[in-house]
Amino acid sequence: MLKEFLVILFSYLLGSIPFALIVVRLVKGVDIRKYGSGNIGATNAFRLLGLSMGILVALLDIGKGFLAVSIARIFFPDQSLILLLAGLAAIAGHNWPIFLKFNGGRGVATSVGVLISLSPKAVLITFLVWIIIVVTTQYVSLASITGAILIPILMLLFGQDKFVLIFTLLISIFVIYRHLPNIKRLLSGTENKVSLKNNLDN
Ligand code: G3P
Repeated sequence: MLKEFLVILFSYLLGSIPFALIVVRLVKGVDIRKYGSGNIGATNAFRLLGLSMGILVALLDIGKGFLAVSIARIFFPDQSLILLLAGLAAIAGHNWPIFLKFNGGRGVATSVGVLISLSPKAVLITFLVWIIIVVTTQYVSLASITGAILIPILMLLFGQDKFVLIFTLLISIFVIYRHLPNIKRLLSGTENKVSLKNNLDN
């Protein structure tokens, strides 16, 4: 039981590392929470630092979700419940990080890292839909919320077992819940857009 607890605790702490905050502070010397949407995620890092740094933060956040599940798999290769809990703990770490008084991000990229290890095909299709929505509307939040609705449907269509389906639904609920401020802004027409030409760096 101690080993299970330590693996899940490690996943939570790994997920808690606020890469967007760290990268923006290192590159620009400012606090990402005071700019753009105020969110500590890749989208807001992109607004502040441009595309390459936005992608770097996205990869780091995806990486911590993927790593949490991969490390859990080393210790518990046959126990899918522990892998799922480790993934959920990493996402919870990103959303409610102990290092930032539990004020974290939306958990999209970290969820992607966790979900890739469950169904790369479903993640790839969701990513393509996400890209189309971002390019056509410039609202990353709208794309992420749509992705959160789409991914459990795709998991169902691809015949994933009940366990994985429930777990994916939980991830989707987390993502949508963390986007409540964005949903309010989308409904009132005040949501922050993204643009390659007009990020805050230009
Ligand atoms: O992944 C986060 C994205 O969906 C929204 O980011 O900065 O516009 O709140 P942001």
